[in-house]
Amino acid sequence: MTAVWKIYYDYYFLVQLLIWLHFLTNVCQAWLPDSGSKLVNNLKQISSIKFTGNLTHPDYFIVLSQNEHSILLGGRNKVYNLSIYDFNERIQSRIEWPSSEDHSQLCILKGKTEDDCQNYIRILYKPVPGKLVMCGTNSYKPLCRRYVETLNGHYKIEDQFEGIGICPYNPDHNSTTVFSDNQLYSATVADFSGGDPIIYRYPQRTEQLDLKQLNAPNFVSSVPYGEHIYFFYRETAVEYMNCGKIIYSRVARVCKNDKGGPHPPRDRWTSFLKARLNCSVPGEYPFYFDEIQSTSEIINGSYGDSGIQNVIYSALTTPNNAIGGSAICVYKMNDIIGAFQGSFKHQESLNSNWLALSDSMVPKPRPGKCVSDSRLLPERNVNFIKTHSLMEEAVPVHFGQPILIRVSLQYRFTTLTVDPQVRTTDNEAFDILYIGTDDGRVLKVVNIPNGEAAKAVVISENDVLPREIPIKQIKLTSESGRIVVVSRDEVRLVALAHCKSISSCSECVDLQDPHCGWDAKQKACVPMNKVTTRRYIIQDIRQGDKSKCSWTPPTDKFQFGNPSSTREAEVPPNSDKDEDLYPSVNVEDVSDCGNDIDRCAVKQKIAGEPQTLHLIIVAACIGALIVGFLSGFFFSKRFRSSGPYHDAPFFEQHNHLERLNGNQTFSAPRPNKTVNLVLNVRSPTPPLKKDNLDVTKDLNIASDGTLQKIKKTYI
Ligand SMILES: *[C@@H]1O[C@H](CO)[C@@H](O)[C@H](O)[C@H]1NC(C)=O
Ligand SMILES: *[C@@H]1O[C@H](CO)[C@@H](O)[C@H](O)[C@H]1NC(C)=O
Ligand SMILES: *[C@@H]1O[C@H](CO)[C@@H](O)[C@H](O)[C@H]1NC(C)=O
Repeated sequence: MTAVWKIYYDYYFLVQLLIWLHFLTNVCQAWLPDSGSKLVNNLKQISSIKFTGNLTHPDYFIVLSQNEHSILLGGRNKVYNLSIYDFNERIQSRIEWPSSEDHSQLCILKGKTEDDCQNYIRILYKPVPGKLVMCGTNSYKPLCRRYVETLNGHYKIEDQFEGIGICPYNPDHNSTTVFSDNQLYSATVADFSGGDPIIYRYPQRTEQLDLKQLNAPNFVSSVPYGEHIYFFYRETAVEYMNCGKIIYSRVARVCKNDKGGPHPPRDRWTSFLKARLNCSVPGEYPFYFDEIQSTSEIINGSYGDSGIQNVIYSALTTPNNAIGGSAICVYKMNDIIGAFQGSFKHQESLNSNWLALSDSMVPKPRPGKCVSDSRLLPERNVNFIKTHSLMEEAVPVHFGQPILIRVSLQYRFTTLTVDPQVRTTDNEAFDILYIGTDDGRVLKVVNIPNGEAAKAVVISENDVLPREIPIKQIKLTSESGRIVVVSRDEVRLVALAHCKSISSCSECVDLQDPHCGWDAKQKACVPMNKVTTRRYIIQDIRQGDKSKCSWTPPTDKFQFGNPSSTREAEVPPNSDKDEDLYPSVNVEDVSDCGNDIDRCAVKQKIAGEPQTLHLIIVAACIGALIVGFLSGFFFSKRFRSSGPYHDAPFFEQHNHLERLNGNQTFSAPRPNKTVNLVLNVRSPTPPLKKDNLDVTKDLNIASDGTLQKIKKTYI
């Protein structure tokens, strides 16, 4: 054991450095083309319509539901009904629901702030037509209300019920709900302090405070698929047995028809299973993007050689304290199902490694399989799944690697939404992604599958909100390119249809935007949804090949002699509902776009010649390599000569921590510490409390098993 630790620490830094260098060189070699965007639009160039609600207090906006004409926006003590065309609020259908005086006073008494002690509406669903259920944080006392629609289109309160386990206490908590087959599934926290995570559908829930099931999760999304409900989230990885803790992305699922176990009260899932999501750049040391931030809906599309598939897009990032890396990974639903059909992970005892369980040890019927009545399951199955909810295999990423990677000191991806399968003139279809960042940007991206692989092209990078504002949610509207962008305190209706700002064929084709095509007859870059016949449209989404522009449309001599010809109607007059809804502006006058959000995107070239950019990046990489090698070499040399570490490997650990923390209290006599730590690792039941108080900073060093113990003792 000691020998292992010794080797581990000897090379710990070096290995870390190597992994980073490997990643950086990969970035340099392979993803340089990814780093650009075809268009860059700053805040002034993007015109949008803004809704701010309450100007003096935080709103914690969330789009609760939407249809073709309106969106329902949850905020502070209110639900707003906005027209999706112009963002005008339909004030007559606003729903007001503040917390009662009692509830908000109790909340203040419990030490929460006045902003906390409001009712932030988080959930809205329609169980049956004409009815509405809403849930809100209600001053840290989650509450739901049933409403019934009255004859004049207003909603009247019917009754209310407790929302614990359904709605979060804190408006900022990362929770998710989905209403499917007449049932509401929620993933949130079920206590005031936020320490009791839960995946719940009345009456079943996950085990309470069982770190093997849920370990400080941040839920991201939930979707029904087949006979299951799938939940996407990130959590502290219980299977990670090295020192420190790490967060992994997960997909978990439960059976819709789970009725609980053989014994009353049957309030626990008998089908809860989870698997890790693998979003990584392959290589000898795969580079992982481990923290999922968002997923799309399930998309049914056609993807190169892999044919028609149900897939889910997700945005993942590196941890907060690492260099900012973000990636878009696509998962096939079939691969997710595959992971749940593989082996289970098994931990023999508290401190042993998690390993694959051999199939002979798995009871029958297979735990986690949906059965017609889970109450008839044998005891053994139900107990098995409680301790084996984690699958051995991680879900592999579709196309073998992320379709898009961004390494940036400025931003990380926070959310994404997909406009699925936008058709082109040659009848191919591509998914368009809108990706939000934590610094107010929206990237419009097209996924281009090619054979087994896929690669995303960034069509435009747009500053939609000021730099300090993270984007929380993006929703599509029925108008292509027009999206709803949600942040905590404001919501914007933004048009990312760039066609009208482009004047030449080569630029139009080069953009690779499936929403735009060059009309060779009209000589204009036109939005595809306004085109009735695709005959004169030049597009090349795959290559952006400008040489196609040399094609000239055939002139038809019989055009005027044939009254039934549809030619005149091929490109419809440029008038549509936009012009009716927005005051029309002079096309040349781009600086003042008024309310016409379609006309304001201006094309800009990215600064710097690509060649220079390339050289700079290569030079930076070589520099990084040299610095990295030297510092690694220096560190290993220095620690090697700095003490009697053959006998006491843990000194090294102390040294590193001391350096990292800059904490002087660590300079206690060495022998004591050694004894402490050795005990901590070796003894099967270490004196936890004492260690904890004694060397708080060393908690990270203890194996995960120890950590768990401590948490449990606390609770
Ligand atoms: C929102 O407003 C539209 C138009 O007035 C109306 O049809 C719809 O029912 C409203 N929705 C709700 C939930 O009030
Ligand atoms: C929810 O997720 C966001 C984005 O990753 C994060 O910044 C925030 O801290 C999370 N909220 C909580 C309460 O953990
Ligand atoms: C994740 O996928 C990569 C290949 O894409 C593979 O090398 C790596 O071992 C996988 N990691 C896990 C934990 O399955």
